[in-house]
Amino acid sequence: MPPTESTGIAADPATLIDRLGLKPGHATIVGLQWGDEGKGKVVDMLAAEFDAVARYNGGANAGHTVVVGDQKYALHLMPSGVLYPGRVNVLGNGVVIDPEQLVKEITGLRERGLTIDSSTLFVSNRAHLVLPYHKTQDKLQETAYTMPNALDQSVEGIGTTGRGIGPCYADKALRSTAVRVVDLLDMDTLRHKLHRIVPIKNATLKALAGFTGEPFEPIDPDALLDWLKPLAEVLIPHVADTAGLLHGLTKENKRILFEGANATLLDIDHGTYPYVTSSNCSSLGAHTGTGVPGHRVGNVIGIVKAYQTRVGGGPMPTQLDDEIGDRIREVGHEYGTTTGRPRRCGWIDLVALKYTASVSGATTLCVMLVDVLADLPELKLCTGYKIDGQVVDRFPACSEDLSKIEPVYETLPGFAGPVDQCKTIAELPENAQAYLKFISDYLGVPVVLASVGPKRDQTAVG
Ligand code: GDP
Ligand code: IMO
Ligand code: MG
Repeated sequence: MPPTESTGIAADPATLIDRLGLKPGHATIVGLQWGDEGKGKVVDMLAAEFDAVARYNGGANAGHTVVVGDQKYALHLMPSGVLYPGRVNVLGNGVVIDPEQLVKEITGLRERGLTIDSSTLFVSNRAHLVLPYHKTQDKLQETAYTMPNALDQSVEGIGTTGRGIGPCYADKALRSTAVRVVDLLDMDTLRHKLHRIVPIKNATLKALAGFTGEPFEPIDPDALLDWLKPLAEVLIPHVADTAGLLHGLTKENKRILFEGANATLLDIDHGTYPYVTSSNCSSLGAHTGTGVPGHRVGNVIGIVKAYQTRVGGGPMPTQLDDEIGDRIREVGHEYGTTTGRPRRCGWIDLVALKYTASVSGATTLCVMLVDVLADLPELKLCTGYKIDGQVVDRFPACSEDLSKIEPVYETLPGFAGPVDQCKTIAELPENAQAYLKFISDYLGVPVVLASVGPKRDQTAVG
C-alpha cells in the first residue's frame, strides 16, 4: 500500500508550518551534527505542506529513514518528499548521482506503489555521475591512506561510506575526468568522453592497487557504456534544468523545501576536516547546490539529535565508551542506514552545535530521538571545551585539537518515559522540557519540535 496524504500525521497538516513558526517562503532542512539526526522524518512531515523538495548535496552516502505507518523507507538519493503524491522532487546540481543506485530506488519505490514519473522527479542535467570506478577509488584510497609507513604503524582513515563520493567530487573539481547527467543525453559524445577518461582512471587505479597490494582489473570504456545505456534510459525522462524549474516555482509563489544530506560538521569547508564528506552539506550548500540564491530562503530548520552520534573516523569530544553509550546505541538503534556500521554515541555537544547553528544560520530547531534519553537518571550537556586545561572559546579548526578536548558538562536530572504519545512540548515531562529549554537558551534558537519516536505521529510540536 502506498502512503497517503493522511497517513498518521501528528500535527494537522494544514497548520504544521504555522505551528513551527516558519516565515512564508522556502525552507532548508539541515543536520547540525555528524549526520543521521532524523532529517528524513522532518522533511517527510513538512513535504505535506511544501510544493517541492530539493536535495542539494551529497549522494548515496546519505541514508534518510522515513516511517509511515508500518512501512519503513530508507532513501539514499531520492528526496524524502517522494512519499507525498504529486510533490515535485528535485536532485539538484550539487548532488552526485550514482545511476545504478538511483534506478534501484526508483524501481523499488514503484514496486511499493508510488508514482515516480517525469512530473514528480527531476534530476539536474548539471549534476555529476558517480561511476563504478569512483567506488573502487574510494576504497583503495582509504586502504592506501591507512597503511603503515616509516613514521606511523597506522592512522585513522576518513571511514567513508565507500559510495564513491570523494572521487566523484574530486573529478568535478578536476573537470577533464568528470561525467555529468547531461552527458547521458548523447551516447556518441559520451563514448568519446569515456575513451579519454577511462584510461586515466585505469592508470590511477592501477597505481593505487599496486601500492596497496589489491588486485586490479582494467575497465573497458565500451563495457562501461553498455552498462550505462539501460540506466540512462530510465533516467533520461527525469533529466531537467532544475535551477530553471525551481526559479519558475519561486515565481509562482510555490514553497520549496531544501533537503540537506550529511550534516554541518561533515561540510567540506566548515566541518571537522579532514573527517568530513566532500560537499557543502551545511545550509550554505542549498544555494550553490540548486541555483536558488540565499535571500530566497528565510527559514533554516536545524535538525539536532537529543544526543550526539558519529559514524566513520574523526574525533568526537563527548563520545561515551561505557554502558550509557551502549544503552543509547541500542535504544536508539544507532546503526548506519547506509553501511550498517555501529554509530559512536555520546552526550549532546552544545559547543559544536553553537558553531554549526551559526554556520548554517538555523532559525528554528527540531530536537529528535528525545524518547531515547528517557529513564536515564541524569543527562549531561557539553557546554565548554578545555584543551590542556585551558578553556577554548572557539570550535577548533583542526582535528588534532578536537581530539584533545576535555568536555565541560552541565548535568540536568533525567525524565521518565514513555514519552512517545506526547503531542506537544508542554505534554513532555517537566525535566524533558527543561532539557530542551537548556538547549534552546544555550544556542539562542527556539526548539519548535521534539521528536519522540520514528513515526509521523510520534511528534511533539509547539
Ligand atoms: P537522517 O539521515 O538525518 O535522515 O537520519 P537517519 O534516518 O539516518 O537516522 C535517524 C533514525 O532515527 C532513523 O532510523 C529514524 O527512523 C529514527 N528516528 C527519527 N526520529 C526518531 C525519534 O524521535 N525517536 C526514535 N526512537 N527514532 C527516531
Ligand atoms: P545522512 O544524510 C552520517 C560520513 C561517513 C564518513 C564521512 C565521509 O544519512 O545524515 P563519504 O562516504 O561521504 O566520503 O564519508 O562522512 N557520512 C555520514 N555520516 N550520516 C550521513 O548522511 C553521512 N554521509 C557521510 O561516515 O565518516
Ligand atoms: Mg542517515
